[in-house]
Amino acid sequence: MSQVIVFWSGTGNTEDIANKIRNDLDCDIFNVSEADVSEILKYDTIILGCPAMGAEELEDSEFRPFYEALMSEASGKNIALFGSYGWGDGEWMRTWADEVNGFGCNLLSDGLIVNGDSSAIDDAEYDKFISSLK
Ligand SMILES: Cc1cc2nc3c(=O)[nH]c(=O)nc-3n(C[C@H](O)[C@H](O)[C@H](O)COP(=O)(O)O)c2cc1C
Repeated sequence: MSQVIVFWSGTGNTEDIANKIRNDLDCDIFNVSEADVSEILKYDTIILGCPAMGAEELEDSEFRPFYEALMSEASGKNIALFGSYGWGDGEWMRTWADEVNGFGCNLLSDGLIVNGDSSAIDDAEYDKFISSLK
């Protein structure tokens, strides 16, 4: 089953988590600035990474436009979500997961949320996330 990671990261934390997931799954990976919607739709499973930005929102100048274009054609696709956050409680991820479900996608697991970079990953949560992708 083909898998791809597409991420946005401002200060490198989500990128760090993306690279860890990539190493464990041995899958393709793209910074969203290099990702093409029609190419990404060729994969069976799409793993999206974006930190909490705005007020518990997705990054809106680069990531959201890509993600909305992708979602408009992604009904029925397997999707997984992850991202880094700072001072919140993960609200942005809960909102994001609801949105993805609303697009008719098959969300494979709870979104993986990490307070900072990959050194802050909760091992049990991470194992659950990776298992849902294998
Ligand atoms: C403009 C801006 C808005 C942010 N908004 C939130 C937020 O609403 N909730 C939160 O928990 N963290 C928020 N953060 C913190 C980031 O999510 C956190 O620093 C994260 O590690 C950044 O990931 P990155 O290094 O991949 O860009 C915000 C950071 C910035 C710069």
